[in-house]
Amino acid sequence: MKAVITATAKYLPENVLSNHDLEQILDTNDDWIRTRTGIRERRILKDPDKATSFLCSEVARQLLDIRGVSADDVDLIIVATMTPDMLFPSTACLVQNAIGASNAWAFDLSGACSGFIYALHTGSQFISAGTHKRVMIIGGEKMSAVMDYTDRTTCVLFGDGAAGVLLEPGTDENHGILDARLYSDGSGGDNLCMPAGGSSRPTTHDTVDQKLHFLQQDGRQVFKSAVVAMADVATEIMERNGLAAEQVDYLIPHQANHRIIQATAERMGISLDHVAVNIDRYGNTSAATIPICLAELDETNKLQTGSNLILVSFGAGYTWGGIYLKWQ
Ligand code: COA
Repeated sequence: MKAVITATAKYLPENVLSNHDLEQILDTNDDWIRTRTGIRERRILKDPDKATSFLCSEVARQLLDIRGVSADDVDLIIVATMTPDMLFPSTACLVQNAIGASNAWAFDLSGACSGFIYALHTGSQFISAGTHKRVMIIGGEKMSAVMDYTDRTTCVLFGDGAAGVLLEPGTDENHGILDARLYSDGSGGDNLCMPAGGSSRPTTHDTVDQKLHFLQQDGRQVFKSAVVAMADVATEIMERNGLAAEQVDYLIPHQANHRIIQATAERMGISLDHVAVNIDRYGNTSAATIPICLAELDETNKLQTGSNLILVSFGAGYTWGGIYLKWQ
């Protein structure tokens, strides 16, 4: 039994932080950010009382509305995030409580920017096994909570947002999530991390003074690894499934840098009009980028029965992977 996506939804906070806004607080400029990354603006969840679970709960409610099912009908909620409300309890449990999904079990998945792809593959296994009928997969991040807004090399890149899908059993073996290749390489861990706040460096005055509770990245190293890994896994998915470039209706890549997206499309031999791109409007929302793209394609009716989609991502860990999905 294949898992199919029966609803998509997204939630972006209203507040826009543009490159021009960043020019006011940092030694940066719109031209540098646009040409190096493709980003024009990103969304920020300003309300200090709201966190990742708020963004994800908004998505979960929409998924129920769109599909016309009740919260009681949900069997499992997986939230992919690297900015959970707290280390524990899980953000997924907070979402479960917020929407009243009393029959669902819920857990977080830590896959950084690849979190949604990891979670989609994980969730689809419960459907394929026949043990679960409705699984919510949500990627959500309040990246602004782990940004150092004095560090121009990182804070210009990331934004807040959430999106997700409802997975259910399909009726046609040839539609739905058809293939997945997922990878990890822990040797890249130091190049993209938040050093403190976990059990290896618990929070102290010192860790706060040293700014170790913010995201840190060696951008050049990550760029080099991401560009190879995303293109490799995208072409591997094409080869494994006998897909020629002209058969790929949409590449849905993680939105970290427009140059990485372009390089991936070039290696696949597909033109940019077959690539989902919204990095200009939202920046890198980590686990949320791919489902936001998917929701936008769905709400603008770009997805038809039989559309071939390839989802690819790369993120901290390192983690990366690709999924082949035929729209139902
Ligand atoms: N505004 C202006 N100048 C900036 C800047 C900013 N916001 N950020 C960095 N610079 C400067 C640097 O200080 C450097 O100056 P120098 O040459 O005088 O030292 C110069 O711009 C070039 O920096 P560099 O880091 O080489 O730029 P880059 O072309 O590699 O682009 C990234 C930087 C972060 C955009 C790019 O490396 C990247 O996208 N990396 C991968 C990100 C990613 O995929 N993350 C992960 C997955 S989630």
